[in-house]
Amino acid sequence: MKRRVTKAIFPVAGLGTRFLPATKSIPKEIMTLVDRPLIQYAIDEARAAGIKEFIFVTSRGKGALEDYFDHAPELEASLRKKGKDDLLNILKSTNMESGAIAYIRQHRALGLGHAVWCARRLIANEPFAVILPDDVIAAEKPCLQQMVEAYQETGGCMVAAMEVPPQAASAYGVLDIKEDMGSMVSIKGMVEKPEPGTAPSNLAVIGRYILTPKVLQNLNRIRGGAGGEIQLTDAIAEEIRNERDVFGFRFRGERFDCGSKAGFLQATVAFGLARDELREEFSQYLREMVILPDAAQ
Ligand code: G1P
Repeated sequence: MKRRVTKAIFPVAGLGTRFLPATKSIPKEIMTLVDRPLIQYAIDEARAAGIKEFIFVTSRGKGALEDYFDHAPELEASLRKKGKDDLLNILKSTNMESGAIAYIRQHRALGLGHAVWCARRLIANEPFAVILPDDVIAAEKPCLQQMVEAYQETGGCMVAAMEVPPQAASAYGVLDIKEDMGSMVSIKGMVEKPEPGTAPSNLAVIGRYILTPKVLQNLNRIRGGAGGEIQLTDAIAEEIRNERDVFGFRFRGERFDCGSKAGFLQATVAFGLARDELREEFSQYLREMVILPDAAQ
């Protein structure tokens, strides 16, 4: 019997230096795509996949994240008084049930594996999901939901995977493919940020994982890997060495790397155009910006 996945870890301790000066005073996860912070996209995706417990691994200066998920009684009362039900509903969709959300501090920036390990006592002995909010995925069926459904068939560990250009592979965890079954790929190895030209494939790990508690035990022993950091990839790769199943899952959807400025801007355009209330005005602006200057050449 496969156990249900009801807990998710959100590693949000990163400094966000690529977005300085904005991230001097706001956590990067609060940065906004159209009108919702990045973290809201991650939470909505987790909820759609059946996650009930949300574990944030934070660091110093991330207080705004806790405030964001708090209830706002005065604001709600004022919107109710003014009859602004639509805004009230938007606001309520950000509310978290008391006890559903936990914050753990990662005291030192020792890597993604270490951040996940910091949540080990809250996970105890269950399979769990990890969502990296920088990776925003636009999909008809949310990515983690696709994975949870696939996991019911496979068990084991599963990582979201996507083909990347060969020259980009060294920015990712990369899968060494054992058998390619289409959307599902069984894997015989994983390498974090391979040196250019040494990647075992161009199938890269994207920030969605379903993991067994064994991975947390592996993290007890893992030492510094790529970049001197304790890597989640290395702890998952150890499962393969221990002859337990690890799968890559080619999700259906478009992934935006919102940890980079170009990716964030692309996501802003895509999510802006996806909004009924913005599409006409925004697409006309883009046509004028992009097509007219070309035509003038
Ligand atoms: C992390 C993981 C990497 C994965 C990537 C996806 O790297 O360590 O394996 O491919 O997320 O976004 P980071 O981007 O934090 O360096």
